[in-house]
Amino acid sequence: MDSTSIRQTFLEFFRSKQHEIVASAPMVIKNDPTLMFTNAGMNQFKDIFLGNREAKFKRIADTQKCLRVSGKHNDLEEVGHDTYHHTMFEMLGNWSFGDYFKKEAISWGWELLTEVLKIDKTRLYVTVFKGDETEGLSRDDDAFGYWKAMIPEEQILFGSKKDNFWEMGDTGPCGPCSEIHADIREDADRNKIPGASLVNTGNPFVIEIWNLVFIEFNRQSDGKLVPLPDKHVDTGMGFERLCMVLQGKKSNYDTDVFQPIIQAIALKAGIEYSKDPKADIAMRVIADHLRAVAFAIADGQLPSNVKAGYVIRRILRRAVRYGYTFLGIKEPFLYRLLPVLVAQMGPFFPELIAQQKLINNVVREEEAAFMRTLSAGIQRFNNYVESVQNSKLKIQNLDSNFKTEQLIGSPTHQFTSSPAISGAFAFELYDTFGFPIDLTQLMAREFGWTVDMEGFKKGLEEQKARSRQDATLDASDWTVLVSDAGMSEFKGYDMLETNSRITKFRMVTTKGREHYHIVLDKTPFYAESVVR
Ligand code: ALA
Repeated sequence: MDSTSIRQTFLEFFRSKQHEIVASAPMVIKNDPTLMFTNAGMNQFKDIFLGNREAKFKRIADTQKCLRVSGKHNDLEEVGHDTYHHTMFEMLGNWSFGDYFKKEAISWGWELLTEVLKIDKTRLYVTVFKGDETEGLSRDDDAFGYWKAMIPEEQILFGSKKDNFWEMGDTGPCGPCSEIHADIREDADRNKIPGASLVNTGNPFVIEIWNLVFIEFNRQSDGKLVPLPDKHVDTGMGFERLCMVLQGKKSNYDTDVFQPIIQAIALKAGIEYSKDPKADIAMRVIADHLRAVAFAIADGQLPSNVKAGYVIRRILRRAVRYGYTFLGIKEPFLYRLLPVLVAQMGPFFPELIAQQKLINNVVREEEAAFMRTLSAGIQRFNNYVESVQNSKLKIQNLDSNFKTEQLIGSPTHQFTSSPAISGAFAFELYDTFGFPIDLTQLMAREFGWTVDMEGFKKGLEEQKARSRQDATLDASDWTVLVSDAGMSEFKGYDMLETNSRITKFRMVTTKGREHYHIVLDKTPFYAESVVR
């Protein structure tokens, strides 16, 4: 079954159970201060769960574009290094808003997986919340009872709050959940070790595919769980994992969701996929990150130096750096992969087709700019490591009367267990060469080094304080040139250059220097907030 049919089968199944099929919400969230990106299918329904908004339909199903790169749900570090985590992924979900509850959610989930999609029942395990005393929550005996009516008890496992009580974030709707796990190991391995013992242990072949959450509470900011006015169902199935299971693959990246992109990367690098583990990781990282970046831009989040924009910039740079270091690609290449992604996913997500030109231009520009600083920064990093290592050798050869600091001039270089990149140097890479800190950490790890994060954070704080100071300005009154100009018109979705008129300007003085603020009638620059 190809991925398009799998997605369609899911939606059709729930349509047949009277669910309204709705479009994915944007992956970028602009109106919720607790969240930058959609991290679960239920985000767009948060207000319905909380009782703040009436549901238009009592039953809904969709596939939701999710991004898990920040906050409570962050999978960035695993991506590419394993075969089943992603930054951006599709979450297939069905919801009941105060309508059906555990019984139907459980029996329909089982029916879809085993009768419609025909997954071998003996390969599936389910988990049930075992309760939590500190929260005053009892074992989910209802869910257990419904499962027991359908499957042997050996395939039902009890789990703690960590795995079986789902929360959207530090606050918000939450409740106990039942997960469904699939064991995709070969029979010989299954005979040796029972799948039940591998559930939720990080085994790449016994993995969670679906989470059925029974939303009953709101977690308040004071930590209290408050019962909601109604009980709801919120389910989320990893689309890419389901494709892996149904297509008989051992990695999400071997499915038809990823293979076209992976093959395009392999072609560009001139390296075959699945020949060299390091190159494979790089190809997986790039394939994953391309999707995240492309969908984020399509949904209106351009890379930048702050907040959500910085998250996207970091993801893009991470992909570039993996290509640069492990595949030897020294020129912008991500944007060239875009047509493959658009051909693959555009038919279901038309925003990719509509925004293809913008994504192409933004990614190409970002890559080119980062490439320029990357090679200089990597050179600087290697010199640093080399000089510290040389100092270490010198020290080892010297009389023990000498103090380390006298030789290398910095107390942050510790040579005891694993050496550390000094916080000041990590900050220099960040500030001067645009290296996200996780990039520096990644490069450090490759040498078996760590990064002095405290020192780095200190540098960052100092810089913030400096820029706060720099931001204090003296401004003259606006000189208005076009009185009825209205708001600036944003042109950046279609073009990177425009001819514009200045509608007003003012002189500002910062740190004793004079310059001007100008407001344009139309502009390709993306405004984070409106100048009034
Ligand atoms: N909201 C649930 C999850 O993300 C379904 O796992």
